[in-house]
Amino acid sequence: MCGIVGYVGSGKAAGIIVSGLHRLEYRGYDSAGIAVYPQGADHLQVVKTPGKIDDLEKLMLTEFQDPAVLNATIGIGHTRWATHGEPNQVNAHPHMSGQGNFAIVHNGIIENYRDLKLKLEKKDHHFRSETDSEVLAHLIEECYEGDLRAAVAAALEQVEGTYGIAVICKEHPDMIVAARKGSPIAIGVCDDATIVASDVSAIINHTNKVIFLDDGDVLLARKGDIDITSLKNVPVSRELTNIDWDLTQIEKGGYEHFMHKEIHEQPEALANAIRGRLVVEDGTSKLSGMQMDAYELARIDRVLIAACGTSFYAGMVGKYYFEDFADIPAEIQQAAEFRYRNPIIQRDTCMLAISQSGETADTLAAVREAKRKGAIVLGLCNVVGSTIAREAGRGVYLHAGPEIGVASTKAFTCQVAVLAMMAVALGRTRRLSIQAGRQIAESLQKVPELAQKVLDQEKAIITVAEKYAGVQDAFFIGRGYMYPCAMEGALKLKEISYIHAEGYHAAELKHGPIALLEENVPVFACCPDVPGKSKTIGNMQECRARKAPVIAFATEGDEEIAPHCDDLIVIPRCPEFLAPIPVVIAEQLLAYHVARLRGLPIDQPRNLAKSVTVE
Ligand code: M6R
Repeated sequence: MCGIVGYVGSGKAAGIIVSGLHRLEYRGYDSAGIAVYPQGADHLQVVKTPGKIDDLEKLMLTEFQDPAVLNATIGIGHTRWATHGEPNQVNAHPHMSGQGNFAIVHNGIIENYRDLKLKLEKKDHHFRSETDSEVLAHLIEECYEGDLRAAVAAALEQVEGTYGIAVICKEHPDMIVAARKGSPIAIGVCDDATIVASDVSAIINHTNKVIFLDDGDVLLARKGDIDITSLKNVPVSRELTNIDWDLTQIEKGGYEHFMHKEIHEQPEALANAIRGRLVVEDGTSKLSGMQMDAYELARIDRVLIAACGTSFYAGMVGKYYFEDFADIPAEIQQAAEFRYRNPIIQRDTCMLAISQSGETADTLAAVREAKRKGAIVLGLCNVVGSTIAREAGRGVYLHAGPEIGVASTKAFTCQVAVLAMMAVALGRTRRLSIQAGRQIAESLQKVPELAQKVLDQEKAIITVAEKYAGVQDAFFIGRGYMYPCAMEGALKLKEISYIHAEGYHAAELKHGPIALLEENVPVFACCPDVPGKSKTIGNMQECRARKAPVIAFATEGDEEIAPHCDDLIVIPRCPEFLAPIPVVIAEQLLAYHVARLRGLPIDQPRNLAKSVTVE
């Protein structure tokens, strides 16, 4: 949630920060701001605005005309996803301290901000905004006795909640102090600059070598030089991570939207996710990140999956894999429920946290709770070096490449492919035969091709999108492996097209929701030619009997299905366990084109953010 960029070096901070903010805009985009400290100036120069980074840039053209401001070599910037206070100019970051000597940008939530505010008001601090973050700026000022690092640490000692912050101070024109607790901070160190950001995508056009702060770390950054300590000022050392994404991967590459690009990247992303991991001959997979030998794999007697949103639906597919391939009881829980439900964790329970970003607050909290209870914890993340990946300590990376569009696409299909590989590895330490393992591995090898075949159907999917782009409500139904697909199809459509869409198990409609069906409420039925198809066809008939148009995601060449639906979206034939991949890709294309036809901001839908780092 929210994006932070800080720069100190020899370059022009304002331009560098704004270009970094553009890359982080997917994290939050309701208001933005920047503070720089021009050499020799007597105050920090701040510009803030509601809206997006483009709006900020326009404002900077008028407000930052002075060459000294444009040439400033230190500054911080922020793109916001509001938690406290509506997204307006006053509530936008950076926030200034009362005397205007400190500017801060903050991600996260200061939970005790009301108490802190009251105490500060008694000391004559006057607040301008409704935000929790402004309180922190005043608190730092209150703690300041000439040492910026010490003041930030002292203020943070009083804070309850989460933060990723960057602070600059008028008295220290050569330094940024940053800190993290529950909200990521990455550092890029170059020869002539140091960049601090909430996400590596704002850093990698400067350097691929990145250091991630851990919770409780405080960073003192100068041009090309960093010093990390604990809040108590004890030096700590953090590993350097080499990020292998390049700039072209995080740019749109000719597509109008990141989401469209990312949908089309799936054949390649899937190839990367499985590359070098399948051992077809032995009918298994080798996932070295799990750091488990056969003995340890065989010990796992229960899998507990925790995730949110799209990752949750991938986890639902994974649950079937663990049960079908490995005979291991598997459960999936909303990560937000995990720590409050007091889950039963026994010695050989494996807790699997699935998260594209690796920063989702609820999933991270679930990881911590599972570790506390002694579970074997594995992370399934896309972002290398992300908090969940690091805290889980072991797991599997997706290698799907950066996912920028708020709607998760390639992460889902890669998560599904990796979950299948994990389940097959577990299965082979149990009763999954070498022949059955080989069949699964061989099918998985063909997954990139399968994805490409769906993409080749895009024109036909656009025709369906055109027919239904004007509806207000829609349903998605499916059973078995298609049940999670129904849930994911509805999520994709609603989040980017703003059509009210609900996913249901196909058999559940008649227990209530069927009352809502009428002729302008389409039902999208996930109904490839797999076991259970005839039952789903029965449910499709129930919908048509209520005059609802039915659109089926069906297997190519399946002649049985056409008479039972109004429109068809064809997916390639594949084994049942792989069907979620083509069906969900078709759903992604459908949602994308409906949203495009409705003229909506697809990569940045209203009220959303890519990475949800608050509870
Ligand atoms: O980064 P994560 O996979 O942990 O994110 C989980 C959800 O926030 C995410 O999948 C969200 O539901 C997406 N907007 C779905 O497209």
